[in-house]
Amino acid sequence: MSCFTTGVTVVTAHTQGQDWGMTCNSFNTVSLDPAMVLWSVRKTSHSHAAFVKAGGYMVNVLGAQQKDLALKFAQGTQEERFAGQDLVRGIHQHPRLDGVIAWFDCRIAQIVSAGDHDILIGEVLDFGVHTGHGLAYAQRSFGVLAALDE
Ligand SMILES: Cc1cc2nc3c(=O)[nH]c(=O)nc-3n(C[C@H](O)[C@H](O)[C@H](O)COP(=O)(O)O)c2cc1C
Repeated sequence: MSCFTTGVTVVTAHTQGQDWGMTCNSFNTVSLDPAMVLWSVRKTSHSHAAFVKAGGYMVNVLGAQQKDLALKFAQGTQEERFAGQDLVRGIHQHPRLDGVIAWFDCRIAQIVSAGDHDILIGEVLDFGVHTGHGLAYAQRSFGVLAALDE
């Protein structure tokens, strides 16, 4: 699977009086009408229960300059991950991170158990887009895609 190049997101949620976030590259599109997306969360991750209970999530699509955020949200405590972050709150208080190139504010429409992960299918309630190249991930390295015809 590491040969398949993906973008990189930080998925967040606000529930039980605190913010939760994790780096995620399993994010993908599902449906255009209605707009639906998915990502899969490892069942043994510490934040698994919080993401399921939250009933929704915010997908933050990282820009090419945000490798540090990808690393920060893949380790440490939740307090350490959000320390010093500028946040904007979505419809259900799920946090948007500063400087991302796109965001999707979602409510969980369906949860599909699949092996050691749960697939969290979300309906997009709101979204935003900013200019900039996305951060890419393949073979355990971060990079940036350049168009072949440029
Ligand atoms: C580039 C990258 C992509 C990742 N994608 C996922 C993912 O799609 N689903 C997942 O459960 N974990 C993914 N992880 C691992 C989680 O970010 C990491 O295990 C998580 O932050 C652990 O937090 P927790 O146990 O405190 O919940 C990814 C890590 C990296 C570096």
